[in-house]
Amino acid sequence: MTEDVLVVHGGTPLQGQIRVRGAKNLVSKAMVAALLGESPSRLFDVPRIRDVEVVSGLLELHGVKVSAGAEDGELVMDPTNVESASTDEINVHAGSSRIPILLCGPLLHRLGHAFIPDLGGCHIGPRPIDFHIGALREFGAVVDKTPEGMHLSAPNGLHGAKLELPYPSVGATEQVLLTAVRAEGVTELRNAAIEPEIIDLICILQKMGAIIKVHTDRVIEIHGVPRLYGYEHKPIPDRIEAASWAAAALATRGEIEVLGARQQDMMTFLNVYRSIGGELKITDDRVARAGVSGSEGGIKFWHPGGELKAVALETDVHPGFMTDWQQPLVVALTQARGISIMHETVYEQRLGYTEALNSMGATIQVYRDCLGGTPCRFGRRNFMHSAVIAGPSKLHAADLRIPDLRAGFAHLIAALAAEGTSRVYGVNLIKRGYEDFEAKLAALGAHVERL
Ligand code: EPZ
Repeated sequence: MTEDVLVVHGGTPLQGQIRVRGAKNLVSKAMVAALLGESPSRLFDVPRIRDVEVVSGLLELHGVKVSAGAEDGELVMDPTNVESASTDEINVHAGSSRIPILLCGPLLHRLGHAFIPDLGGCHIGPRPIDFHIGALREFGAVVDKTPEGMHLSAPNGLHGAKLELPYPSVGATEQVLLTAVRAEGVTELRNAAIEPEIIDLICILQKMGAIIKVHTDRVIEIHGVPRLYGYEHKPIPDRIEAASWAAAALATRGEIEVLGARQQDMMTFLNVYRSIGGELKITDDRVARAGVSGSEGGIKFWHPGGELKAVALETDVHPGFMTDWQQPLVVALTQARGISIMHETVYEQRLGYTEALNSMGATIQVYRDCLGGTPCRFGRRNFMHSAVIAGPSKLHAADLRIPDLRAGFAHLIAALAAEGTSRVYGVNLIKRGYEDFEAKLAALGAHVERL
């Protein structure tokens, strides 16, 4: 237990450069896509994070050879000899991640059956999988939920379907894409998620031989093909990690250049950052410009001094303000003058972490109502999903226990911004989504040590 505690001596502005690699929420899906190919795939810029280990383990159990390529961060996946794995072997990964649900379509195509263990992931609401199962059944899959996990088969193969999601779920859209690309016939998906990670997954599938049209108004049309091949792909950068470091710069009154961060994936965040009073400089085209090759660009974020401004925000599906940007930014908003509002509309229970911030001196009140303007699907239900943040508050050190990935990083930022020495328990959870975060903290001049 002792190695899972980080001692944080706060109050020092974070300053320096760090680099983000491929997005966690694309890389894991790209690895699943490799299973659909008949030849090896190469994925570049893969971060060393827990989710990548989990998916590697699952692929290997199913006969995919996963190995490191010649380049740093290169992963080679050879699915030539895909084979069945036992439920016991697969169940070793029960509760470790939400990605296994995405193996359904690819395994049904490759093996005719699939077993999916109990899912893990962050506890930020009930996180049902009804959209996934509904879509799989429409494709012709037989889904049998048992206490040990979910068994699927496709006695008559998988065929295209006309589908409409009740909400533009990222995971369910990926499920449909990964299943429809090799299903017989045409699939039309309405109310699809169109996050940049989804578009990048579509690019990968197109490289593999798929035919996918993205229409306006969240409609995606997929023409099934009989076979797919391996891909080579550099994933989009991790825009959640980039925004987390940007928020850390603001909360600690520092300056962080996030190399690898890309403007086009973060425009909504950048607008909000500026509205609050944060400064930024975009150099993500630096390598491409003549005469300055060799030095990688990104986005530099800093606190310009003076006071930050309060804002009213709500999280939403793309192109809205991402739910995963919410928690780190709320820490920065505790330092803004006035009343800020954060209305969480994607997950019903993603504000519990604010209690810990209050124990550090923040003034945050959570409400059941939809505050800030637009009513959402959680309104008039029993979910505390709007936060009112009064600032600025001087944060002081505390002992904190990390509840989930993004809230965990928010706690870490709060400890770094606070005066005094905090202990952050359960800090290894952060490794699920933030590569080498301790080395990055050291590079930014943070005073942290393992207990
Ligand atoms: C992905 O989760 C990400 N995870 C999440 O990031 C991210 O917060 C989320 O998308 C939204 O952007 C990965 O990519 C691994 P959803 P996902 O399906 O796909 C409801 C992080 O910290 N829903 O878009 O699971 C659901 O309950 C993680 O990196 C159903 O009701 O999210 C939620 O309220 C956390 N039934 C909403 O839709 C379903 O069958 C959006 O969820 C599926 C979803």
